[in-house]
Amino acid sequence: MDATIARVNRSKEDARTSYNRLSRWYDVIAGSTEKKYRDMGLQKLSAQPGETILEIGFGTGHCLAALAQAVGPAGRVIGLDISDGMLAVARDRLQKTGLDGRVDLRLGDAARLDFTETGSLDGVFMSFTLELFDNPEIPLVLQECRRVLKPGGRVAVVSMTKTEPPGAAVRIYEWFHETMPNYADCRPIFARRAMEQNGFAIQDVSVSSMWGLPVEIVLGKKA
Ligand SMILES: C[S@@+](CC[C@H](N)C(=O)[O-])C[C@H]1O[C@@H](n2cnc3c(N)ncnc32)[C@H](O)[C@@H]1O
Repeated sequence: MDATIARVNRSKEDARTSYNRLSRWYDVIAGSTEKKYRDMGLQKLSAQPGETILEIGFGTGHCLAALAQAVGPAGRVIGLDISDGMLAVARDRLQKTGLDGRVDLRLGDAARLDFTETGSLDGVFMSFTLELFDNPEIPLVLQECRRVLKPGGRVAVVSMTKTEPPGAAVRIYEWFHETMPNYADCRPIFARRAMEQNGFAIQDVSVSSMWGLPVEIVLGKKA
């Protein structure tokens, strides 16, 4: 991985504790800001009726609900998150919308994916999650995504991205990440490059700006 990407030093236990604490407020803090980019990612993935889709880091479950709607009654969605607080909020949302029967929620660390579903999924979705993994883990997560996908399967990633040279917003964010790692736990990465390096053929890339921070929305295909 590129040496210029900031490292993530906090433990998984700290991540779980922090997202458990955040789970009831996450939609208030980040929900409306991030929705536009999540929706762009969902559009690129374009889940179809009957498909099986995995979402990693599902948070409060907005995208799980959208994916469950898209795959329909013949499809299936698997959600993986490290935080049981997030899982409880997402489960509640799915139950209220009557979509819980299509979604299998799992608790765990995506860098240690132990799914038995090798080569069987149609798509993987991640929004504002790949940039939470430390540099040596990003390839592990993407290789696991590749392993569980069918040949030709898609992965859509929405991620804060780093420009070269980094702009002021990226430098400020990195400063926050370094000085307050429990508040600014993610940091800009090179999502497209990481996906290419881990065996995905890039199909489509958009770059948008979120409060001046570049956000990459990338669609890759298992080559
Ligand atoms: C910034 S939130 C994004 C949530 C959601 N994808 C969205 O866009 O609203 C990141 C999510 O990833 C989860 N997460 C953090 N580390 C993880 C890990 N190692 N494995 C799986 N999920 C993780 C967090 O609990 C949280 O729900």
